Amino acid sequence: MEILKEISGRRSWRALSEAALPEGAARRIVQAGILAPSCYNNQPWRITAAEGETLLSLKDTLSEGNAWATRAPLIIAVAVRECDDCRLEDGREYALFDAGLCAMNMITQATAESLVAHPIAGYNPKKAKAALGLPKDLVLIALIVVAHRGDPNSADGGLLKEWQKESETSPRKRKPEEEVAAFGRWSELS
Ligand SMILES: Cc1cc2nc3c(=O)[nH]c(=O)nc-3n(C[C@H](O)[C@H](O)[C@H](O)COP(=O)(O)O)c2cc1C
Repeated sequence: MEILKEISGRRSWRALSEAALPEGAARRIVQAGILAPSCYNNQPWRITAAEGETLLSLKDTLSEGNAWATRAPLIIAVAVRECDDCRLEDGREYALFDAGLCAMNMITQATAESLVAHPIAGYNPKKAKAALGLPKDLVLIALIVVAHRGDPNSADGGLLKEWQKESETSPRKRKPEEEVAAFGRWSELS
């Protein structure tokens, strides 16, 4: 089946290289995020491309299982205020949805540039927000770890746990199509 290679070839790889990113890559990735659609064009996302000392402090807030991410030369934070986007009376709230669209645009741009862009939720949100200088009322919904792909068999094992090393070579896992998608009409029997 013909799926765009930026979609079919993307993986959340964890073995990263510490090499610097290509000139201008951070800017292009952030611009791709800004170009995402949003409800009423509210653009609720607040994007921080963490660099220098901020990047180092941010890495200190990662959970133990995300030690592999400390090799990355760039981590992009996506934050939103729920009140900055459409909130419909029937309970539909779009800030987090739109932040997801923004994040995926950035991931796709990075993938097109042959980079790894791995979204993570495993960090201490309070400490991460402090490291980034984000105000308290923003929800730091995800970090996107950006790097060149590295070698899981390097001397330090890419800082990967054994199961993480195995997942670098295992096929992608997805639920069967019929469990998550329908063509025509939703037909789940319950
Ligand atoms: C919101 C979100 C949070 C995630 N958090 C983590 C994380 O903390 N650590 C990690 O190693 N991977 C994390 N992942 C990556 C997922 O494990 C990965 O996307 C999933 O296993 C599917 O694999 P694939 O992206 O290679 O297709 C996260 C992904 C998303 C979208």
